[in-house]
Amino acid sequence: MRATAKAQPNIALVKYWGKRDSERNLPAVGSISITLADLHTTMTVEFDDSLSGDTLVVNDDKNDAMLPRVSRCLDSVAGAGRSFASVTSDSNFPIAAGLASSASAFAALVLAADAAAGTGYSRDRLASLAGQASGSAARSLFGGFVELENAGDDIRLHELCTARDWPLAVVVAITASAPKPVSSTVAMETSRETSPFYDRWIEQQEADLAEARAAIAERSFERLAAVAEHNCLKMHSVMWGSRPPMVFWNSTTLACMEAVRGLQAAGRAVFFTIDAGPQLKAVCQPADAEHVRETLARVGGVEQVVVSGLGDGARVVADD
Ligand code: DP6
Repeated sequence: MRATAKAQPNIALVKYWGKRDSERNLPAVGSISITLADLHTTMTVEFDDSLSGDTLVVNDDKNDAMLPRVSRCLDSVAGAGRSFASVTSDSNFPIAAGLASSASAFAALVLAADAAAGTGYSRDRLASLAGQASGSAARSLFGGFVELENAGDDIRLHELCTARDWPLAVVVAITASAPKPVSSTVAMETSRETSPFYDRWIEQQEADLAEARAAIAERSFERLAAVAEHNCLKMHSVMWGSRPPMVFWNSTTLACMEAVRGLQAAGRAVFFTIDAGPQLKAVCQPADAEHVRETLARVGGVEQVVVSGLGDGARVVADD
């Protein structure tokens, strides 16, 4: 009745922004992401009949804020009649704004809950359940380059290529560590209801997905860079055009973007992407990662720089 699973965050290159069914948390668009290797969340779930309620400890601190979402996710895996559970989560990276901590957390949670309860669900079913908790979490069940496809009335996941097939590096510049002012869930609904650019965003997503798929198939860094930056800036344009407007960047985010432009002008293979937060993620060839790290670390206002390779999907690990 106890199991531990480990999962890494993923970074979307073609973004998920908007929901077609908020009840089941189904995305309005497909997305393509890369799963990281060096940042991870380890999650232990223990179902215990002697407990009088679920408990959650995150990085050694009791966390009641996230508990209702965790409990709902446990119900979705083990059934509403399950025993209460004690859940312990540890991440080796700052659980700051926009670092995709919910993706690694819910991917690890569904896997640990499945192993602890002995439900034996398929990886696709677990991805779908992780996606109900947080859309981007479905992608962290898989490794390397992952596509999330809207298929009928559910989602379907594919590994487009493994981390070993195309071993890129990701350099994350943390520009602010305060929690974000508005959650992705709320921000997506505001975009859908008020942004004049929302419908065009949805309409154009299939073309961006096709371009990214083709770039990945031929391992064309240049093509992937162009579509990823375009898709990221387009998603932020949807947010900027919303009412109230949602601007997640700060001046350091922009300075990091300029630093990436400088690296590109000097001939380095690097591009940026930014999620619903102020951190900038630079994707580059592994041989350039140290240079990109040093460059971003020198940008005034950058608090911390984290480097990671690409890795595998979530897995059950030995329980200690
Ligand atoms: C900007 O998965 O956090 O990072 O499903 O409402 O929990 P919910 O949203 P979440 O949204 C992530 C949005 C994004 C882009 C992406 O990861 O594709």
